[in-house]
Parts: sequence; C-alpha cells; structure tokens
Amino acid sequence: MKDILHLLDEGVLLLDREGRILLINRWWISKNLAREDWEGKYYYEALRSLSVISAIGQLLEGGESLYVMHEDAKYLIKKKIMEGDKRLFLVSDVSSLWQYEKLKRDLVENVAHELKTPLSAVTLLLERAAKECPSSFAIHRALHRLQQMEKLIDDMLILARLESGVERLHLTEIHLREFLQDVYYQLREEFEKAKVNFENLVDESFVLVADENKLYLILRNLLENAVRYNREGGSVRVRGWKEGQMAVVEVSDTGIGIPKEHIPFIFDRFYRVDKGRSRDRGGTGLGLSIVRNAVRLHGGSIELQSEVGKGSTFRIYIPQSI
Ligand SMILES: Nc1ncnc2c1ncn2[C@@H]1O[C@H](COP(=O)(O)OP(=O)(O)O)[C@@H](O)[C@H]1O
Ligand SMILES: [Mg+2]
Repeated sequence: MKDILHLLDEGVLLLDREGRILLINRWWISKNLAREDWEGKYYYEALRSLSVISAIGQLLEGGESLYVMHEDAKYLIKKKIMEGDKRLFLVSDVSSLWQYEKLKRDLVENVAHELKTPLSAVTLLLERAAKECPSSFAIHRALHRLQQMEKLIDDMLILARLESGVERLHLTEIHLREFLQDVYYQLREEFEKAKVNFENLVDESFVLVADENKLYLILRNLLENAVRYNREGGSVRVRGWKEGQMAVVEVSDTGIGIPKEHIPFIFDRFYRVDKGRSRDRGGTGLGLSIVRNAVRLHGGSIELQSEVGKGSTFRIYIPQSI
C-alpha cells in the first residue's frame, strides 16, 4: 500500500491532530519540499517551503483548498478530514495548467489591446466620412460592423479577466431597486425601440451584498437579453428576495423562450440558439458566459427556466454570509 503512495504523481501528507507527520510520500522529497528525516517531526519542522507551511497552517484553521507558489511552481493543496481528527493533505503541481491559463489570458489581452487602437482610428475616420455623406448606406453599415467588433473585444477582455482567477471581489451593500433603475436607463432606448415594458418589482428597502461592477455586468447582460429576445408589447420583470443566506434576483421575460435542448449549452461562450438574430441585435455570444463567471466569483449559482413562445426566467443566487 505504501509503495503505491510513493509512486503517485501527487503529494500525500497525513498529520495527527497536533500536526505531527504520520505519513508523507516520496513526491515531497523529490520536489525538495520536505526533509528526508521527517519521522516524528511536526509538519513545520519537516517541510522546506515557508509558503506551503503557511498554507497548511491556514487550512488547519479552516477551508478546503489553497493555491501556493514555491520557487517557480504553483501547487494546489487540498485538505480532507479523516477519522480520529487526522488531516490528509493532497498536493498537486498545477504549474503547467497555470502557465497555460496565463498564456491564454495574456494572449487575449494583448490581441485585444492591439486591435483596439487601429479600430478606434478607423471608426473616427468613418464617422467623419458619415458626416460628409450622411446618406451612404455602406458607411453606416461599416460603422455598425466596427461597433460590433469593439463590443466583441470588450466582452472578450471582460471574460478573460473574470476567468483569470486574479479578480478580487469588492463587496458593498447595494440598494437593488435603485441600481436596477440605473442599468435600465443605459438600455432605455433599446426597450423603447422594441416596445418592451420594464417592470422593476424590487422592494424599495431590498439590500444585497455584492461586487457592484460584477453585479452590473450580470444585470446588464440579463436585461439586454430579456429585451432582445422579446416581442413587441412584451415585458421584462425583475424581482429580488432573500432565501436563508442567499439573495435571489430574478429576471423574467415574455419573450421567445429557449428550446429545451439548447438550455445545457446556453452559458457556453459563443453559443447562440439563433446566430442571425443574436448578431442582428448586436450580441457577441459572450453575455451569458460573463454572467455565469461573475455569479461564480461570488460563490453563487444561476437557474434558468424557459418555455418556447412564453418566455424565460433567470434566477441568480448570491450568498450573503461572506
Ligand atoms: N432571455 C432570453 N430569451 C431567449 N433566448 C435567450 C435569452 N437569453 C439568452 N438567450 C439565448 O442565449 C444565447 C446566448 O446569450 P448571450 O450569451 O447573452 O449571447 P448573445 O445575446 O450575444 O447572443 C442568445 O444568442 C440567445 O439565443
Ligand atoms: Mg446577450
């Protein structure tokens, strides 16, 4: 049994309730993270990395997992509580995954910034041309395309940042009714054009704790969809309430609905039920991925109910005990 432990490509460390090492596998020694003469020692005497020692100390106080850096490597440490109050720690080297994620993030950010500069230059030029020939359909169409590209780049940047794992939450108390009204004003023209009613049914006194910028992204994208995939004379209703430790915000619409078979994929990036319709309405296909990531960062979840021809209801749950 012990031999198998030594073959693992993962660190295994078992501590008694005082923090003394009961078992440690060879992985630790091969990574130069522990001394060979660990027997009878406390973890902080036998381990060689201060950051790993402090992470284990933190996990002993509470929590389930932590990432730590040591030299150029990144490790994920997971804790399991065993019988007799023993603690088992499993450590994996996630450096390559981390580097890949970082590479991807840097690539998106660099490409996005490189594209933005020439894009604004061309936009400026075309805007000038549009003033000179206001009736040119081609110029207006080109300008519209450029705006769509700009939106796509912005959404890609937002999503890359949300997915990066480096974003922090800045929690504040938010008066939802007022906050929603601000989001609605940003979209008012769109609501009026589509002849869709907005009903803010959130109680005046309803307050929730969340990150303001991220809540904005969530509500803006949900409201945008609710108006875009609606019908003339339809409506969008928003409610808010508390359920135990959760704040719940519900956005429901009387729109076209989402066919059942599409629902499992609807939060995936670039997934659309109807590409043509989404593009016509200025969609980038990234809205719901942004929503899902922003909700997840809060440790929350999202539910969707929808019926074709009747409408959709998105419900987000945000824990309030953090
Ligand atoms: N409220 C809604 N009613 C009907 N369909 C929706 C709704 N919200 C999202 N969808 C569908 O989900 C797809 C993905 O949404 P999203 O990620 O916001 O991208 P986009 O709106 O840019 O296409 C949309 O293209 C649309 O097909
Ligand atoms: Mg959208």
